[in-house]
Amino acid sequence: MAGSADFDLYRPSEEHDMLRDAVRSLAEAKIAPYAAAVDEDARFPQEALEALLANDLHAVHVPEEYGGAGADALATVIVIEEVARVCASSSLIPAVNKLGSLPVILSGSEALKRKYMTPLAKGDGMFSYCLSEPDAGSDAAGMKTKAVRDGDHYVLNGVKRWITNAGESEYYTVMAVTDPAKRSKGISAFVVEKSDEGVSFGAPEKKLGIKGSPTREVYLDNVRIPADRMIGEEGTGFATAMQTLDHTRITIAAQALGIAQGALDYAKGYVKERKQFGKPIADFQGIQFMLADMAMKIEAARQLTYAAAAKSERVAAGGGEGDLTFQGAAAKCFASDVAMEVTTDAVQLLGGYGYTRDYPVERMMRDAKITQIYEGTNQVQRIVMARNLP
Ligand code: CAA
Repeated sequence: MAGSADFDLYRPSEEHDMLRDAVRSLAEAKIAPYAAAVDEDARFPQEALEALLANDLHAVHVPEEYGGAGADALATVIVIEEVARVCASSSLIPAVNKLGSLPVILSGSEALKRKYMTPLAKGDGMFSYCLSEPDAGSDAAGMKTKAVRDGDHYVLNGVKRWITNAGESEYYTVMAVTDPAKRSKGISAFVVEKSDEGVSFGAPEKKLGIKGSPTREVYLDNVRIPADRMIGEEGTGFATAMQTLDHTRITIAAQALGIAQGALDYAKGYVKERKQFGKPIADFQGIQFMLADMAMKIEAARQLTYAAAAKSERVAAGGGEGDLTFQGAAAKCFASDVAMEVTTDAVQLLGGYGYTRDYPVERMMRDAKITQIYEGTNQVQRIVMARNLP
């Protein structure tokens, strides 16, 4: 798998290009055929999970020392982008495995990394990320879930909401308040397991898009876990959660990019086939200009996303570049706005057909919408960028 030294700034190496070809073939053969049914039935994309597991693409970011593929941030982006190109729901498997486990990789003890990264790499359990709550969305530090120390254990109580892949994942990174007087500095991060007594899940949310990826509440009712499941020091959980998002907002940019590319590719084929006024509609300049704009925006989003991924990799390797926070937010915000525009235009290009579920572009448009909302709304991204101007 592509390693960190293999690319210069944001130009993918030959190895990255080979990875893209391999993931594209796999996604078209084993994931795309089920994408419409997964959406229609709002069911977990089991076929995608199996295909990703069989090809070791379910959590490519896990370092080699824990049995992972050791993919760099750009390679991870390429995997997510190519899966999202055919099925956004399925792309949440590699994306959320990174989001859920990155707090452990960034801040966890060696023992914690070994304990949880090894099964994740093997495919024995997925990871989810539990930050949001019913009354703490954009204001993440306003969370109420509590973790109270009791001897060599912590006892967790609270409700986490909008948790991607909840119920399917075995492992959960949970942010909880350990010192209510200290706001963000009184939040700590823990690994909670699905099998821990007191963990349960709400009904799946009925969503506009990404219907194949279950979004549920996670209930923590007197969940007693060993103190060594804390990720990093007490009071560092919020900073870890934010540092994680600096890296993983780039994976949402990748998802947005993939959705947009999928919509453009479909629309490009359609306009050559569809005839009106005696010729393919691709021959009309009005249509050509729309396609040119779509491709231009996607390319700009791709360059920003890959540059951010390269930066993420350098920071993860100890490069200490200060503006990853800006780059991650910018890539996510820009690429998701592009995905919304491009998928809406793809529906327009297909006209009435585009508005039906007989064609994939309306699904892509619905799926694109979430990329402007999760891992921080695009309004939050603009706050983050404004506070971290380069
Ligand atoms: N890196 C490291 N530390 C950071 C940080 C970063 N990027 N950002 C903040 N911190 C730390 C700092 O230590 C800061 O303290 P200092 O004063 O010492 O600097 C402390 O956190 C508090 O930071 P802020 O004062 O900036 O906190 P705030 O309360 O004003 O909130 C916010 C800032 C940007 C709005 C933040 O709450 C936020 O990002 N909100 C959105 C939450 C979000 O993205 N949720 C997504 C959930 S996950 C999801 O959606 C996944 C999914 O389903 C796929």
